[in-house]
Amino acid sequence: MADKKIIAIVGATGAQGGGLVRAILEDRQGPFAARALTRDVSSDKAKALAAQGVEVVAADVNDPASLERAFAGAYGAFCVTAFWEHFSAEQEIAQARAMAGAAKRAGVRHVIWSTLEDTRRWVPLSDDRMPTLGGKYKVPHFDGKGEADRVFTEAGVPTTFLLTSFYWDNLIHFGMGPKPSADGTLEFTLPMGDAKLPGIAAEDIGRCALGVFKRGGELIGKTVGIAGEHLSGAEMATTLTKALGRPVRHNAVPPEVYRGFGFPGADDLGNMFQFKRDFERDFRGARDPQVARSLNPALQTFAAWLERNAGRIPLE
Ligand SMILES: NC(=O)c1ccc[n+]([C@@H]2O[C@H](COP(=O)([O-])OP(=O)(O)OC[C@H]3O[C@@H](n4cnc5c(N)ncnc54)[C@H](OP(=O)(O)O)[C@@H]3O)[C@@H](O)[C@H]2O)c1
Repeated sequence: MADKKIIAIVGATGAQGGGLVRAILEDRQGPFAARALTRDVSSDKAKALAAQGVEVVAADVNDPASLERAFAGAYGAFCVTAFWEHFSAEQEIAQARAMAGAAKRAGVRHVIWSTLEDTRRWVPLSDDRMPTLGGKYKVPHFDGKGEADRVFTEAGVPTTFLLTSFYWDNLIHFGMGPKPSADGTLEFTLPMGDAKLPGIAAEDIGRCALGVFKRGGELIGKTVGIAGEHLSGAEMATTLTKALGRPVRHNAVPPEVYRGFGFPGADDLGNMFQFKRDFERDFRGARDPQVARSLNPALQTFAAWLERNAGRIPLE
């Protein structure tokens, strides 16, 4: 243990960071040890990590000094922001700045920044195909992350930019699973027409991140896009039909209808799906399942993920 290189993991009690903690724990002979960062070391999730022998330390990404303490002595750091806790791209950028600054001061040798595209490079604010949100964003939870890429570069932090994909786990935790329609048939709503959506098991993001760290410096300064599989809404509905043993049909509402669904963030997600549909070539081109599999040979397909998780999808 003592000779292992420490990876400080933001979001260690969450989906992405938690996947990385588990990947490191499973890689017993590997070169790394996980250090889990959390705001609350006494939470059940934090205690469960400590019980598995993980070093758990208190840190808040809004508190640069706490980050610097938590990054001290670490070889690597996995940096992620939790947009859906505050819905603020500005806050994400400030948090990225805090993480980049702390990594630099602590002398971290390899940072992975979990990022997404700044969609304004494709859809400038003047493009009215989708509404501008918050006065300066098209897809706030993408744009803030993409804008923050340069924060790491400008801080002089050796960074790999990890472009993630839609978690299939959203069908369990984010209310995006199939729902009964008026005639009782399950409908899977995906406002992308025939375009294919790069998706991934959230757990596999952490496994891919471990693969990035294991490549040493090779991927520093590079953007690495990952996905388990690219599937259209109709293909996802067919795979769901098989896994659930009940017919599921694709409900291809247009993004403008999705934006009006009224739940918090519906406008952001409606714009996101439209971006993925309208710029399908670029968006999919940036996320190669072959690259992801080379980093993580256990990478799951949607069908494989459903085999383990279909029973957890709420269908009401
Ligand atoms: N859902 C998707 O399909 C998808 C796809 C791509 C990217 N993303 C992005 O993924 C991000 C969320 O990552 P996730 O799903 O891994 O998170 P998650 O499961 O929602 O968990 C949030 C994590 O962030 C930590 N956290 C939150 N605020 C913190 C703070 N102020 N200081 C320190 N830690 C803090 C939490 O730790 P404690 O509570 O223990 O402090 C927890 O571990 C979002 O920004 C989202 O845009 C999501």
